[in-house]
Parts: sequence; C-alpha cells; structure tokens
Amino acid sequence: MKTRQLGSKLNVSALGLGCMGMSEFYGSHDDSVSLRVMARAVELGIDFFDTADMYGPHHNEELIGRFLKEAKAPLKIATKFGINRKPGEYKRTIENSRQYARQACEASLKRLGLDYIDLYYVHRVNPEQPVEDVMGELSRLVEEGKIGNIGLCEINESTLRRAHAVHPIAAVQTEYSLWSRDVENAILPACRELGIGFVPYSPLGRGFLTGSFNSETEFEEGDFRANLPRFSKEALLINEGIAKVITKAAHQKKCTPAQLSLAWLLAKGNDIVPIPGTKRLKYLEENAAATEIELTSDEVQALEAEIARIPVVGERYTPEGMKGLNA
Ligand SMILES: NC(=O)c1ccc[n+]([C@@H]2O[C@H](COP(=O)([O-])OP(=O)(O)OC[C@H]3O[C@@H](n4cnc5c(N)ncnc54)[C@H](OP(=O)(O)O)[C@@H]3O)[C@@H](O)[C@H]2O)c1
Repeated sequence: MKTRQLGSKLNVSALGLGCMGMSEFYGSHDDSVSLRVMARAVELGIDFFDTADMYGPHHNEELIGRFLKEAKAPLKIATKFGINRKPGEYKRTIENSRQYARQACEASLKRLGLDYIDLYYVHRVNPEQPVEDVMGELSRLVEEGKIGNIGLCEINESTLRRAHAVHPIAAVQTEYSLWSRDVENAILPACRELGIGFVPYSPLGRGFLTGSFNSETEFEEGDFRANLPRFSKEALLINEGIAKVITKAAHQKKCTPAQLSLAWLLAKGNDIVPIPGTKRLKYLEENAAATEIELTSDEVQALEAEIARIPVVGERYTPEGMKGLNA
C-alpha cells in the first residue's frame, strides 16, 4: 500500500480504516468479526485507523484498544473529542473547553491503551468557545507528548486559519465524496495553501455510492441512515440516479462502484486520505484494492460531469446532526 503525508510529519497509508460502523450507526455489528477486519487491514498495509470517543460511546475506542493490545501493530490512530452524548441517544452537546479537551484526551488514551495519539481531532467546533482556547490546550498536549498531531472536523475556513495560527493543523476531516463536494469551494483550497492534509469521511456516501440503496430499501432497526434526509424514500428516488451513474462508470473501468468512488477521491490529490468504513472483510479487501486503480483526468472530468446533472436531494444530517457543521 502506498503512503501519503498529512501535514508536515504524519505519514499514513493512502487509505485508512473507518471504524465507526463497528460500534453503531449502520445496523448490527459483531466484535469478533470487527477484530478480524482490523487484523486484515494491517495485513493489507492499512496503518491508519479512525475512531472517536463518541462512537459507541465508548465502545469503538475500547474495541481498538483490545485490538492494539493483542496485535501490537504499529498503527497510527486518529481519534476525536468534542461531541458529548449519552449511550443510545443521538442528542449531543459540543464541548471544546480546555478542561474538557484534556479530560477527553486522558480518557481516550486509557481506552485505547496508548500513551500517545497520532492524530487528535476536534470533532465539532463550538462557535461560542474561541478556537484559540482549545488549540492552546491541544498544543500543550503536543508538548507533553500525549498527542502527535492536531486535526479539525467540519471546520470553516476562517476558524481553520485562526486555529492554524496557534499551532499547525495536520489534517481536516470533513465529509467528501462524489455526492458531497462542498469542501472543494473553500476549505480544501485553504488546506492546500496552508499545507494541511485532507481526510474525507463517509467517502462512500455512507454506503450509498456503492449502489446498495434505493427507494425500496428497508433499514435495519437502529440504522441511523433511516433518519437522514438524503436517505428518505423521496430523496432516494432522485438520488439513486447518482449511484446508477457510478455503477455504469465502474463497469466500464472494470471495478466496483465503491472502488471507483475511492479512486476518484484518491485522484483528487496526494494530500487526500479517504477512510472508508466497514465491518466486513469482503468490503475491506475490495476497498483496499481501490488504491491500485488510477483514473485519468478525462475519466475524472467525465464522471463529475455526469453526476453534476443530478442535483443531490436532502441535507447530509438531521437538524441535531447539523450542529457544529461549518463552524
Ligand atoms: N468526523 C466526522 O464527523 C465523521 C462522521 C462520519 C464518519 N466519520 C468517520 O469516517 C469513517 C467512514 O465513514 P462512514 O463509515 O460514515 O461512511 P462510508 O465509509 O462512506 O460508508 C460506510 C458504509 O458503506 C458500506 N461499505 C463499505 N465498503 C463497501 C463496499 N465495498 N461495498 C458496499 N458497501 C460498502 C459499509 O457497510 P458495512 O458497515 O456493512 O461494512 C457502511 O455501511 C467512519 O467509520 C468514521 O471513522 C467521521
């Protein structure tokens, strides 16, 4: 697996592993299978695992902690803090105080069984709390050797510039995929100007771009996509046209729609490290193989032009989930 650089000093596999679905949000999960997925990811050369304290909470970090204890694999772990929610509830508060950041970091280190987090993200920025405050505390955690690099999620350009002035940011993580391209307007160009890497989350559109969903889809109990505006039956009636375009183009390229969606992101720049999420070995292997697929600029343009003909219906999140986006 090739590697890519996030910021000035974090070298990671060109594709990471999104671990969120191993704990919640996308239906049922099985820890023993998830642990095998992690082990296979390491065999395939994937050394960049993505989690957050709020996934589960806190099942996802604990599961990775279990894996790290057994595997002793030299992984780069990215985790996040700042979204405070109770188990079983989606309702959240966004917490960025200095004290909260430090407590959250100590708690994540404990759950992961680590003394160092490679990349520590602010999961959501609270616009009521100056970003300089939390950045001050995070830079102290860097000095103390508890975290290696600082990241920000769903940030807007001006907050990113203010944060970067306090301490260099290694990566911005925001949703980015063939059906979520807003980041191309301001935040991705700003990252490039400042030398900050970009980590697209939900690079498969939460599974939608793989062609697995249509307006007839019945979601499993507890699958949070059932509540997302883009996955409503009415929205999917239109949006499924996008998945069809991708499926057709993938057929021409002799790959799967998931692989084409990842290859498209990888083709958008060497500073981009997608983190597709899966809890299945089959999908993991399929996704890892996407790093071998190269799209020409003509292929990229043709795909983008076809998709642009179908405007996406529906917001990315429910009103509760929209809290802290573009903050
Ligand atoms: N910073 C943030 O606010 C934020 C928000 C969301 C996610 N994230 C991070 O980003 C990671 C990835 O995003 P995501 O998991 O939301 O979405 P995603 O990677 O776009 O899609 C995951 C979904 O696609 C399915 N899938 C994966 N590979 C597939 C394949 N080859 N063929 C068919 N289906 C496939 C998965 O199925 P199975 O689950 O059945 O394997 C899962 O339902 C997360 O794990 C998390 O670490 C961050």
